[in-house]
Amino acid sequence: MRILVLGSGAREHAIVTALLSENAGHEITAAPGNAGIAADVSVIALDPTNPGVVTEFALDNDIELVVIGPEAPLVAGVADKLRQRGIAVFGPGKAAAALEGSKNFAKRIMDEAGVPTGRAVRAGNLGEAITAIDEFGAPYVVKADGLAAGKGVLVTPDRDAAIAHATYWLGHGSVLVEEFLDGPEVSLFLLSDGHNVLPLSPAQDYKRLGDDDDGPNTGGMGAYSPLPWLPAGFVDEVIETIALPTIRQLATEQTPFIGLLYCGLIVTDSGIRVIEFNARFGDPETQVVLPRLVTPLSGLLFAAAVGGLGELERPEFSDDVAVTVVLASEGYPETPITGRTITGLDTALAIHGVSIAHAATAHSGDHLVATGGRVLSVVATGGDFTEARSRAYRALEAIDLEGGQYRTDIAARVAQ
Ligand code: AMP
Ligand code: GLY
Repeated sequence: MRILVLGSGAREHAIVTALLSENAGHEITAAPGNAGIAADVSVIALDPTNPGVVTEFALDNDIELVVIGPEAPLVAGVADKLRQRGIAVFGPGKAAAALEGSKNFAKRIMDEAGVPTGRAVRAGNLGEAITAIDEFGAPYVVKADGLAAGKGVLVTPDRDAAIAHATYWLGHGSVLVEEFLDGPEVSLFLLSDGHNVLPLSPAQDYKRLGDDDDGPNTGGMGAYSPLPWLPAGFVDEVIETIALPTIRQLATEQTPFIGLLYCGLIVTDSGIRVIEFNARFGDPETQVVLPRLVTPLSGLLFAAAVGGLGELERPEFSDDVAVTVVLASEGYPETPITGRTITGLDTALAIHGVSIAHAATAHSGDHLVATGGRVLSVVATGGDFTEARSRAYRALEAIDLEGGQYRTDIAARVAQ
């Protein structure tokens, strides 16, 4: 199949790697890609958020499937334009992608669909925000409504900090004050063709920068899959009570969701609750979910794109486990220092079970250099978490990036 993958991160590298691992002779192009992706498939320097440019490229090159990695092209309407021109695309249109982009839209859809989520109050001014903050009590959860590049959410025991956060984001629009949900977090990805869903294997993301969940929120510093501690029937329950009601509500509103429904969940004592939906594969969870996928990815994505998931079996996953640890630049997440040389990848890759998904890398002369905050995802599979962790951390020790930072406790709690 001729496949175009939009995006340039480790998630897209993992998608490309999974497609290549089918050995099905796919012709894959990534736009714009990065140095790691360019080593595996052809890349083209086009703007993935420009619907006209992407559609023209797809038509000119007889692309049979477009896979949209990040959120920005979805919000820009790239999937809508491709679909109008009859091109199969894995990724929702702009209206359905608001499930991720607008927390207010997501809350309304969940209310209409009866999906379990935390209670929330939308505040348009400081008085309303403070009333809600005091009503819910500590710990406080205050969120910007709308995209805030990961900086919009504050969870804090400090009332003054909660009020300051609300004050800041009220300057940019409305805020949501939410009930605090207590319990472990789960990321569950579901493929959707607008009417049917198929689940992938659950994963857990580590969002904070430092060990023991210390420090600021980030895009994600590591992940593991599967989650051995999940209760039996978890995935079926999410499908029945969360994913299908949500997909049906969107279809009823004439905004069918075709693509990846990312359910960000908290398993509380009183049941599973949604904390957020995303409209795309998660990063870094994708880097641990796809290496375990046995069913060919291209067939799943294509079936979702053309409305054929109802005829497919649930995807199969290997019994191996997977761990990924993100290597980030010094100064991430506030002000990452870029341009520094990365060495040692060959030594790391020689370790059995290790692969590397590139995120922010480029070639400068004959050096590989870091070009952003999250630089690489080191991925390791193994028979159990002790083995996978040991491989991943040996690989990280072999890699040199001045000032590079990574968490040392990814999957530690499941490795005992
Ligand atoms: P979000 O961007 O909505 O996913 O929030 C980022 C992170 O904040 C989540 O991954 C959770 O760790 C935390 N969080 C968000 N909402 C809540 C909540 N209602 N209760 C507890 N933690 C939350
Ligand atoms: N890992 C969190 C996200 O992709 O949004």
